[in-house]
Amino acid sequence: MRKKVELELGQAKLDIEKKLVPQGKGVTRHLSLPSTGHTSEWILEEMAQMDVEGESHTNWKHGKLSGAVYHGGDDLCKVIVSAFERYCVSNPLHPDVFPAIRKMEAEIVAMCLRLYNNPDGAGVTTSGGTESIIMSVKTHRDWARATKGITEPEIVVPASAHAAFDKGAAYLKIKVHTIPVDPVTRKVDLKHVSRAINPNTIMIVGSAINFPDGNQDDIIALGKLAKRNKIGLHVDCCLGSFIVPFLEKAGYPTDLFDFRVEGVTAISCDTHKLTGPYLYHAHSTHTYQGNSVIMYRNAELRTYQYYVNPTWTGGVYASPSIAGSRPGSLIAGTWAAMQYMGSDGYLESCKSIVGATRAIAKTITTDIPELYVLGNPPASVVAFASKHPQVNIREVGDVMSKKGWHLNAIVQPAAVHIAVTRLTVPVVDEFIADLKDAIREARTNPSGKGTMVALYACLPVEGG
Ligand SMILES: Cc1ncc(COP(=O)(O)O)c(C=O)c1O
Repeated sequence: MRKKVELELGQAKLDIEKKLVPQGKGVTRHLSLPSTGHTSEWILEEMAQMDVEGESHTNWKHGKLSGAVYHGGDDLCKVIVSAFERYCVSNPLHPDVFPAIRKMEAEIVAMCLRLYNNPDGAGVTTSGGTESIIMSVKTHRDWARATKGITEPEIVVPASAHAAFDKGAAYLKIKVHTIPVDPVTRKVDLKHVSRAINPNTIMIVGSAINFPDGNQDDIIALGKLAKRNKIGLHVDCCLGSFIVPFLEKAGYPTDLFDFRVEGVTAISCDTHKLTGPYLYHAHSTHTYQGNSVIMYRNAELRTYQYYVNPTWTGGVYASPSIAGSRPGSLIAGTWAAMQYMGSDGYLESCKSIVGATRAIAKTITTDIPELYVLGNPPASVVAFASKHPQVNIREVGDVMSKKGWHLNAIVQPAAVHIAVTRLTVPVVDEFIADLKDAIREARTNPSGKGTMVALYACLPVEGG
């Protein structure tokens, strides 16, 4: 049995390697600095060659990629690239040298606070959703230590919440209570949350929407729990970013999720996923990466995020988040994208993306008896699992991969999810037709494997 398991693990490793590492004799590796610099033409040609070698990564424009690329169209790309170019060497660590970047950063935060109904609140931009979440965990930890004397902090996190909460807790030495979700609604089980709260709890968590199956927790009920226990409530809107705030206006039924809910103390919103609501999105290559906002109910709470060292040999050192130097170009790109899109642009994106997501969910529910949809996802992600003994959902995923779809495998239960972006919208019918074919193939001609790998993020390999 052990041999068999080892064999299968070896095969899975090879499969992953094949997916991630370009193979073949013609592949040149640049492992040390060239002795003299290359020309810009050579650099662009080499990059084009790398794209050919990793060809599966370059096909995202056809829309068969779940999440990963949040693209707003070629015009928006041009706007963002112009902003990058203009502020290519800027660094908000030196606001006196780059006052325009400081202004744009403050305005990004202000626009997000208004979008999430807390104009008098406070916030900070970070490098991405993970950093926003880690900063919020740290803020609540330091707040609880200062105001309540908590020295053994704990957080209560739905099993469906993003792994960034576990990561932050691991970095900051905080105990995590992982709470199961209801198997039908896929919302966090409130009784379990309530039971896990104790005098060391600093914060509870809800998602709007979660990564694995796109469902939204009951934020109002979580807010009541947070308020009653005088603890923080972080609502993770990294994936909901600029979709969920527009659901109401777009005419879709929605539950409150933002600062209008009493008890919500922090919200993370990924500005790199909103640059043209998921123009193309698939959890890897957004329009560009590296910008997110962590918002707090008030400026007082935000002060617990800051780091200040007044006695450092290099002078007084103060910084708002993990990074020291930061790329001002990303702030400029985000600001430019938000100005370009405007409320109307985001609303239009919301309508088309959510319309397509709901069409996929409805067709699976009414027209594909072998599958069921997990919960009742309100926005841009839909996950589906098998209810047929002869249909292995991973095998369905494998066949979909062969047909060119890049979907995400999730676990507990084994399921596959698609995060719809604007690129997916025109290919919804193709997706459904391919899915039906894939089920037929997996059912009539099972490979007995189902090796679709639940791979979302991974560590660097080869060459450091
Ligand atoms: C719900 C949710 N939270 C947090 C994150 C983390 O964001 P990032 O990958 O920008 O660190 C993601 C990423 O997709 C997400 O879907």
